[in-house]
Amino acid sequence: MPLKLAVLLICFAAVAAESPYRYYTWNVTYGTIYPLGVPQQGILINGQFPGPVIDSVTNDNVFINVYNSLNEPFLIHWNGVQNRRNSFVDGVFGTTCPIPPGQNFTYMLQMKDQIGSFFYFPSLAFHKAAGGFGGIKILSRPLIPVPFPPPADDYTVLIGDWYKTNHTVLRAILNRGKKLPFPHGILINGRGPNGTSFTVEQGKTYRLRICNVGLQNSLNIRIQDHKMKVVEVEGTHTMQISYSSLDIHLGQCMSVLVTADQQPKSYYIVVSSRFTTNILTSTAFLRYANSNSPPSGPLPGGPTTQVDWSLNQARSIRTNLTASGPRPNPQGSYHYGMINTSRTIRLASSAGQVNNKQRYAINSVSFVVPDTPLKLADYFKIDGVFHVGSIPDAPNGRGIYLDTSVLGTDYRTFIEIVFENYENIVQSYHLSGYSFWVVGMDGGQWTSASRNQYNLRDAVARCTVQVYPKSWTAIYVALDNVGMWNLRSEFWARQYLGQQLYVRVYTASTSLRDEYPIPKNALLCGWAKGRHTRPF
Ligand SMILES: *[C@@H]1O[C@H](CO)[C@@H](O)[C@H](O)[C@H]1NC(C)=O
Ligand SMILES: *[C@@H]1O[C@H](CO)[C@@H](O)[C@H](O)[C@H]1NC(C)=O
Ligand SMILES: *[C@@H]1O[C@H](CO)[C@@H](O)[C@H](O)[C@H]1NC(C)=O
Ligand SMILES: *[C@@H]1O[C@H](CO)[C@@H](O)[C@H](O)[C@H]1NC(C)=O
Ligand SMILES: *[C@@H]1O[C@H](CO)[C@@H](O)[C@H](O)[C@H]1NC(C)=O
Ligand SMILES: *[C@@H]1O[C@H](CO)[C@@H](O)[C@H](O)[C@H]1NC(C)=O
Repeated sequence: MPLKLAVLLICFAAVAAESPYRYYTWNVTYGTIYPLGVPQQGILINGQFPGPVIDSVTNDNVFINVYNSLNEPFLIHWNGVQNRRNSFVDGVFGTTCPIPPGQNFTYMLQMKDQIGSFFYFPSLAFHKAAGGFGGIKILSRPLIPVPFPPPADDYTVLIGDWYKTNHTVLRAILNRGKKLPFPHGILINGRGPNGTSFTVEQGKTYRLRICNVGLQNSLNIRIQDHKMKVVEVEGTHTMQISYSSLDIHLGQCMSVLVTADQQPKSYYIVVSSRFTTNILTSTAFLRYANSNSPPSGPLPGGPTTQVDWSLNQARSIRTNLTASGPRPNPQGSYHYGMINTSRTIRLASSAGQVNNKQRYAINSVSFVVPDTPLKLADYFKIDGVFHVGSIPDAPNGRGIYLDTSVLGTDYRTFIEIVFENYENIVQSYHLSGYSFWVVGMDGGQWTSASRNQYNLRDAVARCTVQVYPKSWTAIYVALDNVGMWNLRSEFWARQYLGQQLYVRVYTASTSLRDEYPIPKNALLCGWAKGRHTRPF
């Protein structure tokens, strides 16, 4: 074959194999919203609260041009999108400069090797309390089998606790070093009680992608006279088991199938807070098409027992080992339970005061936001912004102190992280850039003997995990994604006041196979201002 033709064919193959591009243009503005009946200042995307759903397919390139029409810097985090080899676009302050007021910035994401249900939200300045969040769907590619028939429709259900107060007021309370009061209510897709309905046709089955986008409480969801069959948790297809109610902790998402198999009328969907003395409750409707009959009967009750019920439910949610993930052969060449971990990191939360102000910490370090994103400081080799190893590998009983905590780890190692909770609230932790295996959770103090009860067979891989009061949760992580990744509490006031850190997954290699260079359009701020993103 003539060389020219061969080159042409190779180029053609490269283009044909390239994944589709999807473009979004978003205008982020303030707007008055009334989710709990009183006016407050919300953050809208293209006039919507919640924001639009990102609809994508595995490997899609998703370009989102965000215009910041607020009067404050703004940054969006893509919760659960792994941004492989590209932590520059993760959208938290440790990786990405905010969009200045009046400017726009295009996030270039790739849904590389992912499926599942996730969400985005504004990560700075307590903006999350005002909205700016929305669902993210990553569907399987057309030829990859999905372990259930295509649903009649696919609804995003964003649930979360909510304050009637503007985010600026809440932020000022935190900045003064005070705790926030208890939230005022619960929203379902941005509406208060009876504000939302989902229409179904009798006999059909629907997928609901439920995410807890709230600020501080675990929530329980249930649908009157209907079962919810869990099919997917943050990108893992699960053993399909039906539940009459489900606990969804902060920052977590799961997909359930609901079959409209009852008499045509409306049914209550109830969401209530868990593990709280005051129980917040909200309702929405599952409305059968062609029926105007209102719901009847009492609201379905939630679980009355506390931790044990929830712990048992969590343990019952397992991976369907024969179902595909993003690829037809999900387990690939290795299974997580067969690999020895090379390091154990134990992380414990704490709450206390520093300089008479409320702070929260992990292993005694309360994270201080630096003046330059850590990823940019690392990339441009700017000294003095952070130092690797500024947080110990295990709790050591010291009092809380302030630092910009960065945990150093090595690329391609396989590690164990144990979250230890000595407090009496439920914690929820998220690790950006990764999906990890939840190998175990139980009450009491973790010891090396706790490993005997790990699930090394069919644990779910996900990106956000709860830790029950006075309990521990253990995860395994394959550190296969180079970058600077946020590990944080999803309890948003705690994250804001220091319960977070960054995991630097490091390699000396500068190969593009391991990490992409900084995006050409990256905004530069702090000490990185004025640097050039590309030397060429
Ligand atoms: C964003 O919305 C505001 C308010 O409606 C409007 O004034 C502004 O022109 C819009 N910006 C863009 C880029 O669409
Ligand atoms: C904040 O909320 C109050 C109502 O509690 C409202 O009167 C005020 O205008 C809001 N502030 C802003 C900046 O919108
Ligand atoms: C801002 O929007 C314009 C117009 O769509 C686009 O050409 C430009 O690349 C955007 N800027 C950034 C930094 O993404
Ligand atoms: C697991 O996945 C397989 C393959 O798609 C499917 O046939 C089976 O029903 C699933 N099993 C359960 C319990 O979900
Ligand atoms: C919600 O709707 C039901 C049925 O229409 C009604 O009985 C109930 O009082 C409503 N609740 C609220 C808080 O409006
Ligand atoms: C893991 O460690 C055990 C005990 O040290 C050893 O027998 C086994 O070969 C190791 N497995 C792998 C995959 O390295």
